[in-house]
Amino acid sequence: SERIVLGPLVAAVDQGTSSTRFLVFNAKTAELLSHHQVEIKQSFPKEGWVEEDPKEILQSVYECMDRTCEKLTQLNIDISNIKAIGVTNQRETTLVWDKETGEPLYNAIVWLDLRTQSTVERLINKTPGRNKNHLKHKTGLPISTYFSAVKLRWLMDNVPEVHKAVLSHRAMFGTVDSWIIWCLTGGKKGGVHCTDVTNASRTMLFNIHTLAWDPDLCKYFDIPMEILPSVRSSSEIYGLMKICSSLKSGSLTGIPISGCLGDQSAALVGQMCFQDGQAKNTYGTGCFLLRNTGTKPVMSDHGLLTTVAYKLGRDKPAFYALEGSVAIAGAVVRWLKDNLGIIHADTDLEKLAAAVGTSYGCYFVPAFSGLYAPYWEPSARGIICGLTQFTNRSHLAFAALEAVCFQVRELMDAMNQDSGIPLSQLQVDGGMTSNRLLMQLQADILCIPVVKPSMPETTALGAAMAAGAAEGVSVWSLSPEDLTEVTSEKFDPQINPEESEFRYARWKKAVQKSMNWET
Ligand code: G3P
Repeated sequence: SERIVLGPLVAAVDQGTSSTRFLVFNAKTAELLSHHQVEIKQSFPKEGWVEEDPKEILQSVYECMDRTCEKLTQLNIDISNIKAIGVTNQRETTLVWDKETGEPLYNAIVWLDLRTQSTVERLINKTPGRNKNHLKHKTGLPISTYFSAVKLRWLMDNVPEVHKAVLSHRAMFGTVDSWIIWCLTGGKKGGVHCTDVTNASRTMLFNIHTLAWDPDLCKYFDIPMEILPSVRSSSEIYGLMKICSSLKSGSLTGIPISGCLGDQSAALVGQMCFQDGQAKNTYGTGCFLLRNTGTKPVMSDHGLLTTVAYKLGRDKPAFYALEGSVAIAGAVVRWLKDNLGIIHADTDLEKLAAAVGTSYGCYFVPAFSGLYAPYWEPSARGIICGLTQFTNRSHLAFAALEAVCFQVRELMDAMNQDSGIPLSQLQVDGGMTSNRLLMQLQADILCIPVVKPSMPETTALGAAMAAGAAEGVSVWSLSPEDLTEVTSEKFDPQINPEESEFRYARWKKAVQKSMNWET
């Protein structure tokens, strides 16, 4: 049968905390043509520890590439039209591998992992005035278990193979983007060891003003700079896809890998938030509200992070964002499913919660990994309060959804206070946005409309756009007049603001208890 001619296509690898995807877009219309998704296992070897297998991550990338190519072929779409591949990834997750064998030297320590809590407390205690923001002027970040530097320090101190590899100059450190790009561009046979400014800005080793690894920060964490990847812009050719025995479809060989952004930055780009003041909120494993602040880094007075948003080309300026990060959003759904067994599939949650339409006074603070923004309290722990004999699993399901919404409300309040210009609506994306009850609740709790694009894969779209726009590829224009109109769906607040404030005030009390439950 006839091949469909579509013009240039651009692909993206989206390696998130819970799953990996490979997606192919039409570079002229931004239409999603085909994709495949594979879930990623997480292991919890000890309380608070969260790990993933770097080889499984890589294998999932290959599997998604193969299956997506098969699907395209079935659709009669010519794979040779794919002109570039972008990579977007869960950020902060830390890996070390041996550059000669190509083997990972330990599991990936996932961003949510709490094993470095005591190290973090020790570091903070040593700073003048016990100030968790001691390194913020350079990094934009508080000292926290969340970022890569402390995870890397842990690997060097506790894993003999890592220690040895560092001493013998064979160790390579990377976040997930670096690992994937190194492997796809040839691995031990000449793979490119790089990262982009957005991912680098999440390590705590990177100076967000000079856009370079910072020797003083490296000294502070005692990290040898030679194990760090080179830092590149988010849109340029890093290398070409190499033939690889794990990849059945050889048809991707030779395609440039030319886009790289941490997933939250990619979503900002995919949602076209290029103007100062534009913001998006992504509901993934965690929840991340980013507001573009233009070419100047703005420091928060309300517990938000300052992060590099994107730098779309070697000669282009870096844009910055204020970020509110919540550790547990979609992860609470997985917990209700895997740990409590009160739902069997993610989609059951909406039905269960909708059956009652209220938490009946039950509040659930899922501080499983401490609390991130705006509190940055690693010792906080999850709490469910307000239970009565009447409470049932539907109320608990509703409280879990409300918890996601309340956490976003806290981020939005902090963001509004920092910028002085309140958001008039919230652009959202990510897996949980298919839950309509959650979207309505979110609008009710924020008291502003929530707007969701009809194409939910904005993270991958952002990485594909960056890859397609790179110098030497140039099949995707990022100029505003060429941007495709995005269709969207809007949820308007339906409850009165007093009701919303009352519930939010109760939530805040529950949060205080989650931070002081031991005392
Ligand atoms: O900072 C962590 C973030 O990048 C993870 O994103 O989508 O896997 O929750 P996600």
